[in-house]
Amino acid sequence: MAGPGANVTRICAAISHPRLGAITVGPIAAERAYALRQQVLRPHERVEEMASIDTGDPQELVLGARTARGEIVGTGVVAPGAAPAILGASAASRAAWRIRGMATRADARGVGIASAILVALVAHVTARGGRLVWCNARVAAQRFYERAGFVTAGDVWMEPDIGPHVVMWRRVESPAPP
Ligand SMILES: CC(C)(COP(=O)(O)OP(=O)(O)OC[C@H]1O[C@@H](n2cnc3c(N)ncnc32)[C@H](O)[C@@H]1OP(=O)(O)O)[C@@H](O)C(=O)NCCC(=O)NCCS
Repeated sequence: MAGPGANVTRICAAISHPRLGAITVGPIAAERAYALRQQVLRPHERVEEMASIDTGDPQELVLGARTARGEIVGTGVVAPGAAPAILGASAASRAAWRIRGMATRADARGVGIASAILVALVAHVTARGGRLVWCNARVAAQRFYERAGFVTAGDVWMEPDIGPHVVMWRRVESPAPP
């Protein structure tokens, strides 16, 4: 029988924003995230280029935070992705997933939208037997990931046109067997 995590792609977190009102988090088609990704993460690229953030993996999950009017004000994606070498042999032996494209529209920040998205992304990984999640985090977002249990590995590097990045990761524990 399916465990509680099996339907995670249908779970919607609900958040109340003081000005934007009710916001729900749930799965969206990747294309619906492109405009926000471009605006927040890669203004130097074209909207169509935002497809490069997705892998096309059938297990990939793209989440969106939607206002009641249907505007996408937050997004994030997770898909299977080999752990970077900096995490070492122990990490390489764990089923690894990579988080990408975390963005919240500037006027929607600070009420927990990205945190809710991150929790749901990690739950998706857990439900599929993943054992580790990692990302190339912007240094400006390091504290955000630390609060979610991520730790930093290795040195900061400069991503052209974007800024300083660092690898961050955390273990994911599989659900206890029934
Ligand atoms: C990083 C980012 C995605 C966070 O989005 P967000 O929706 O504001 O995230 P949250 O609201 O969950 O958390 C952000 C802050 O608000 C605070 N916060 C969360 N919920 C809150 C609440 N209910 N009330 C008040 N403050 C709250 C948190 O303490 C957090 O502070 P900290 O991370 O500075 O310690 C967003 O700032 C962003 O898009 N930045 C630009 C792009 C970027 O750097 N993306 C990450 C790429 S790796």
